[in-house]
Amino acid sequence: MRKPCMAANWKMNKTTGETRAFLDEFIPLVQDVKNVDIVVAPPFTSIHAAAALLAGSHIRLSAQNLFHEEKGAYTGEISPAMLTDAGCSHVIIGHSERRQYFKETDEMLNRKVRIARKHALQVIFCIGESLEEREAGKTFEVLNREIGEGLKEVSPEGIIVAYEPIWAIGTGKTATTEQAQEAHYSIREKLAALYSNAAAQEIRILYGGSVTPDNIDALMRCADVDGALVGGASLKADSFSKIVKFNTDYKQ
Ligand code: PGA
Repeated sequence: MRKPCMAANWKMNKTTGETRAFLDEFIPLVQDVKNVDIVVAPPFTSIHAAAALLAGSHIRLSAQNLFHEEKGAYTGEISPAMLTDAGCSHVIIGHSERRQYFKETDEMLNRKVRIARKHALQVIFCIGESLEEREAGKTFEVLNREIGEGLKEVSPEGIIVAYEPIWAIGTGKTATTEQAQEAHYSIREKLAALYSNAAAQEIRILYGGSVTPDNIDALMRCADVDGALVGGASLKADSFSKIVKFNTDYKQ
């Protein structure tokens, strides 16, 4: 049975003070939740402050990005060793905003995944189609390419996949449960082809795109949805804690 995972992607939000205020409120709200992996991804500048508050808690710390080299003359970049040193156990790689605004290619993302795994960081690897691609009937082609290229020569351990249809991110338009389940099922099939059926059954596939406390239960009822990567609704302790405490009846 795959353990559900709920991850907060704060994007470019929250100063260190705001990070502390969130965690002071959030930690007590979820302290009794044992059956869900909880991950918080603050911006780089807040990781240190978050790590201090999360020490000894079951909430895991993630970065939102990293660079695909060990060290050197890469002004403005952050290495995997810097992340583990700062207390991160996870890293988000391949978010559509990185692909779109920062021109991160499948090849670069594959290098990022490989170096992250080399440093034993758990990778939340994001994939998803644009509206144009969906309307052109290319959804599965895009997902297959992003998985095949991004996870090339990467073993399945420590990989979490996040399916985030680009048209659903920050738009208030969630994929229907049918659309989510269909995409997640096809992603699992692709993972089975890449690895093995047994490995694919172990990999968690999170849904992302306008997840809220109101739609999380329906999404989690889908057989292949194992959690969520949450943007907007993760910025408030109250709403993210409600997502973490979704109705688990059908995932036990
Ligand atoms: P959203 O963002 O929940 O605000 O749609 C999700 C994401 O981009 O990870």
